[in-house]
Amino acid sequence: MNIIKCSDADEIAQKVSEMIINKIKEKPNAILGLATGASPVKTYKKLIEAYKKGEISFKDVKTFNLDEYYHLPKSNKNSYYTFMHENLFNSIDIKEENTHVPDGNPADADYYCKEYDKSIDDAGGIDIQLLGIGRNGHIGFNEPSDHFTSGTYKVSLTPSTIEANRIYFDSEEEMPKEAITMGVESILKAKTVILIATGKFKAEAVRDMVKGAVSPSCPASVLQKHPDAYIFVDEEAAALL
Ligand code: PGA
Repeated sequence: MNIIKCSDADEIAQKVSEMIINKIKEKPNAILGLATGASPVKTYKKLIEAYKKGEISFKDVKTFNLDEYYHLPKSNKNSYYTFMHENLFNSIDIKEENTHVPDGNPADADYYCKEYDKSIDDAGGIDIQLLGIGRNGHIGFNEPSDHFTSGTYKVSLTPSTIEANRIYFDSEEEMPKEAITMGVESILKAKTVILIATGKFKAEAVRDMVKGAVSPSCPASVLQKHPDAYIFVDEEAAALL
C-alpha cells in the first residue's frame, strides 16, 4: 500500500486527478472504476476541468461504477445513476453506452450481478478503481462481515452506513436498506486502486485499513494485499496512523 498524506481534500483531488489524466493520455480507451459519495467529487471536478481545457477526451473511455441502491428508481435524485450524471458524465464527452452504473432494479439480481462482472471482464478489466471508505471500513457497499465477498452481489446495509447516508434522504424510511455492489474480489481485480479518505470520521477506519490485520471486519484492509494500491488521506483522516 502506498500511503499519500496530503494537507487537504484539494491536494488529494489534484494528485488523484493527475493519475487518472495520465492514464487516459497513455491509454485513451482506459477502463475506469468509479465511486460515488463525497470523497471523489473534487476529483471529478478536476477531470471536467481537464476535459474542458482540451487536455483529455473521454470519448473512448469506459466506466463501471461500484454500486447502486437497490430498488431506488434511476431517476431518484439520490440514485448513483443520477449522482454520476450530475457530477461527471453530463459535463464530459463520454458516450452514455460506455458508462455503467449497476442497475438497482434488476429483474433477477443474481443473474444481473454475474453479467455485471462479466461485462467488466469482457471490457478488459478495470485500469484504475477509485474508492472511498466507509466509517465502518467498507469499500463499495462491502460491509464488515465474517468473510470477504467475491463478485458483484446484493447486500444489506449496516446501521453505520444507513446513518452516514441517510442525510441525503428526506427520511430514514426513504433510504434504501439494500444495494447492489461490486464484491471485494471484483475490486481487487483492478490493476490500480486509489482510495480517498478525508475528515476525522474516517480516522479509525483508515487506521484499521492500514495498520490492522487483513480482516473482513474491516473490508478495506484487504487492499494491503493489492499490488498497486494508493491511499490518499488528509490530515484528519491520517490522525491515527
Ligand atoms: P463518502 O462515502 O465519500 O461520502 O464519505 C464513502 C463510502 O461510504 O464509501
